[in-house]
Amino acid sequence: MSATSGREVAVFNRHWLGWRCVVCAREFPREHAGWVCDRCGLDGILDAVYDYAGVARDLDRERPFPARGRPDLWRFAPLLPLRPIAAHAAWSLGDTPLHAPARLRAALGLPGLLLKDDTGLPSASLKDRAAAVGVAHALQAGATRLACASTGNAAASLAVLAARAGLPATIFVPAAAPAAKLAQLAVHGADVVKVDGTYDEAFAISLREIAAHGWYSRNCAHNPILVEGKKTAAFEIALSLDFAAPDAVFAPVGDGCIVSSTGKAFAELEELGLIAKRPRVYGVQASGAAPLVRAWAAIPDPTRLDGPAILRAVTPVVARTVADSIAVGVPRNRVKAWRQVAASGGGFLSVTDSSILEAIGLLARLAGVWAEPSAAAALAGVIAARDAGLVRPDETVVALITGHGLKDPLKGVQA
Ligand SMILES: Cc1ncc(COP(=O)(O)O)c(C=O)c1O
Ligand SMILES: [Zn+2]
Repeated sequence: MSATSGREVAVFNRHWLGWRCVVCAREFPREHAGWVCDRCGLDGILDAVYDYAGVARDLDRERPFPARGRPDLWRFAPLLPLRPIAAHAAWSLGDTPLHAPARLRAALGLPGLLLKDDTGLPSASLKDRAAAVGVAHALQAGATRLACASTGNAAASLAVLAARAGLPATIFVPAAAPAAKLAQLAVHGADVVKVDGTYDEAFAISLREIAAHGWYSRNCAHNPILVEGKKTAAFEIALSLDFAAPDAVFAPVGDGCIVSSTGKAFAELEELGLIAKRPRVYGVQASGAAPLVRAWAAIPDPTRLDGPAILRAVTPVVARTVADSIAVGVPRNRVKAWRQVAASGGGFLSVTDSSILEAIGLLARLAGVWAEPSAAAALAGVIAARDAGLVRPDETVVALITGHGLKDPLKGVQA
């Protein structure tokens, strides 16, 4: 990664200190060449480290995160590694609704249920938040092509935002990705490489090609700048609630980037004293692709595990689920995800495919939100947690609705 060359498109956050490996805790400067830890290799995913005292000094506590112009995700630049100098269609997005769905609340007996609805972002998934920050960084770094492997939505966000930025994109997808998702890539002019294999295989091939050609990596579980962008969904939730943090937040888990960034975002707001207490964060996996749930349940005190122990605890599974975006056998960001979930007092839960399909129907009919299966898994997780007594009716509970149902439209229509 070249973090300093290229055009003056964006500037680094002066309170962003650099990187720390999630496994061995080694630190690296911002300019570190290579996305991951030298010693730990691909498992050594880096995490952005900030000087929170410095961030706090610069923050107006009466009115933190004022929007400059359109209220997009860059209002949270004090907690992102970089900030673009000027607004641009490729990276100005965010400010999605937080619904208080009366009929769904009544049907579920959860009067404090909220839906963070990211289905209306440019490519119709939360992934645009990561891609927006990635595209700004890629242009700043002088990248000539962006690439990723994806079950569909990360690729779609790359295809859409690369088209807006005028950058070419190469995307490696498992051949079994839903047709609507593949169409979204083709229509935006991305170069699509279909991999006759799983997402995990597509990921490995993408890394080889990215390294061979010096492309910009839009793999969220590889390029840690992208995970930072995903924090903005949680920041918006807090802002919408006037910094009265929710009690619990449910995020679907594939590679574990969304759940990590959700946990990290609330931890940062707590660190800055903007919220009194971070919410419990729950990661929801489909029961046919639940390596984190399985490992979590087998460990008596999951909060005590260090990075290497988490790596040993989470063993790969063969992923089989109707929810293609979370059909991941080896969550790349498992250490970050585990840590954040553990620190929040939350947990990992699994939901069956039939409960996911039912959740699609509930969301669509009772809240007017059409979620793709992986996104509906968050609501299925809320229902499972209610049944298990993990959330109480008097609590404020948020489900992250991470992707639109039109991306995979035939699932859930009969449920
Ligand atoms: C709609 C949707 N929800 C959830 C996820 C899971 O996100 P992560 O891989 O960050 O865990 C994805 C990932 O592709 C997704 O597309
Ligand atoms: Zn390391």
